[in-house]
Amino acid sequence: MPGFVDKPEPVQVPGLVHLHTGKVRELYRDAAGNLVMVASDRISAYDWVLPTEIPDKGRVLTQLSLWWFEQLAELVPNHVVSTDLPEGAPADWEGRTMVCRALRMVPVEAVARGYLTGSGLLEYQRYRTVCGLALPEGLVDGSELPAPIFTPATKAEVGEHDENVPYEEVARQVGAETAAQLRQATLAVYSRGRDIAKERGLILADTKFEFGYDDQGTLVIADEMLTPDSSRYWPADAWEPGHAQPSYDKQIIRDWLTSPASGWDRSGDTPPPELPAEVVAHSRARYVEAYERLTGLPWT
Ligand SMILES: Nc1ncnc2c1ncn2[C@@H]1O[C@H](COP(=O)(O)OP(=O)(O)OP(=O)(O)O)[C@@H](O)[C@H]1O
Ligand SMILES: [Mg+2]
Repeated sequence: MPGFVDKPEPVQVPGLVHLHTGKVRELYRDAAGNLVMVASDRISAYDWVLPTEIPDKGRVLTQLSLWWFEQLAELVPNHVVSTDLPEGAPADWEGRTMVCRALRMVPVEAVARGYLTGSGLLEYQRYRTVCGLALPEGLVDGSELPAPIFTPATKAEVGEHDENVPYEEVARQVGAETAAQLRQATLAVYSRGRDIAKERGLILADTKFEFGYDDQGTLVIADEMLTPDSSRYWPADAWEPGHAQPSYDKQIIRDWLTSPASGWDRSGDTPPPELPAEVVAHSRARYVEAYERLTGLPWT
């Protein structure tokens, strides 16, 4: 599979069927038909899953997702069933395992943006639109948008980039009613999340949700929620539109990988090298800090 420096071998657990190895998570189905999502400590940068893990990242991101699911539960129901370890699972799955209802997934990356950057900025610079939505003149990298926008994307294979699609295209693919529900839920959840993050000194620039329908036909939020892996967080005190904002969690790693110290050529085909211990420690501290700032809870 492209993207992995070392393709991991999934742990086999009797009673669980291994379904999928994602960049970061392993996915299983249990005997009751629920999904078991196990977040690893893997980290990706520049389209590579790096050969070095960040200790505790899987637990931090899982706990953060669970915290957000709970905070925003009144806005949209979520897929979490339990955090109990399945029978026979390794003890080190504790804290990074979520048992979830298996939903009929809507095949759309439901992205909300409150700030302009990344693929949104590129489209804006060319056409003054994002996902076909017209935006005012004069915005720069990192600008806050007049109001949050729904900028859906189609899901790409590992190693490929998701593709932004106009709302009308989503409506054609999944139906007008589903598209409208997706947009409404995405913007509502993003807006509340952005407000909560802001109170804690973090800008939630954009984020990606995934939704599915349950047996009753209710739209349910799935996957992970408002983690640094699915969202862009910026420290509010360093926010300065006009250039790329430092990423809260991965900046240390990106900077090292592109520095002469790594000896790595980003534009070549050679896989990136192992990260040095101080870069790993620094990155781990940033994930823990994100958790502590957002939740107000000490990381244990
Ligand atoms: N409640 C759910 N019911 C059914 N499928 C779900 C549910 N929650 C998440 N999924 C799906 O499970 C999969 C999780 O995979 P994962 O995110 O680990 O890897 P990926 O999407 O292939 O790659 P990436 O690491 O780039 O996200 C996704 O396909 C997601 O759509
Ligand atoms: Mg995914």
